[in-house]
Amino acid sequence: MKNSVVTFKEMKEKNEKITMLTAYDYSTAKLVDAAGINSILVGDSLGNVMLGYEDTVSVTMEDMIHHGAAVARGAKDALVIIDMPFMSYQTSTYDAVVNAGRLMKEGRAGAVKLEGGVEMADVIKGITRASIPVCAHIGLTPQSVNAFGGYKVQGKSLEAAKKLIEDAHAVEDAGAFAVVLECVPAALAEKITKELKIPTIGIGAGAGTDGQVLVYADMLAMFSDYKPKFVKQFANMSEQMINAFKAYDDEVKAGTYPAQEHTYAISDDILSKLY
Ligand code: KIV
Repeated sequence: MKNSVVTFKEMKEKNEKITMLTAYDYSTAKLVDAAGINSILVGDSLGNVMLGYEDTVSVTMEDMIHHGAAVARGAKDALVIIDMPFMSYQTSTYDAVVNAGRLMKEGRAGAVKLEGGVEMADVIKGITRASIPVCAHIGLTPQSVNAFGGYKVQGKSLEAAKKLIEDAHAVEDAGAFAVVLECVPAALAEKITKELKIPTIGIGAGAGTDGQVLVYADMLAMFSDYKPKFVKQFANMSEQMINAFKAYDDEVKAGTYPAQEHTYAISDDILSKLY
């Protein structure tokens, strides 16, 4: 079944949980799609996971379009959401609409995601007016790491919790079709989820949200630079990949790979004429 922003709305109404995973390339997108995951996020976590940056600040529009288009080619049923990178929407609503349009036209996204609450309401309105669905992202917004002074749980004080609730309503009122809540106390995320008509997608926000998102390389234990508390490793692909790479190394060096079945034949007749 092809997932769209309407699917998200219907799933919230029916109280069905929405699943989302990141992917950054064609082959991974095909696997995530085949598993029946509702949505693939081409997150700007691409910067950390795929490009080896220490944060998402350096990720460019070109990076997002390049990887987004690859994911879109691999995703048959999942809704592909592409992140708007740092400084592609903060400068003006005009820039935001132009760049969101590029992610749709060149990246073949079904929706875009951007970080920020009240302060991004006008930008969200501008993009949605151009018929581009927007997923908002509040709580811990990694593009603001330099303003936050690190990656910290958000909404813990009374003032911060009230601001987060305000942000959630502001992005809904501005026209966002969903909102990611990152690193938010579970009870607060649940309260926001009950107050909003649009679905909430949690990451480090407990089980009371309408859906969950994880970085695929985190949940497969492929990314080992750090492991946030909220990550559950559903498989240990690092171990499996390293073992496979070692087996290849051993077999090539021992001369057992490639074997007969991996080689192409030529007739003896032709071969004899070469000497
Ligand atoms: O970039 C990303 O992968 C994200 C998720 C962590 C929500 O924004």
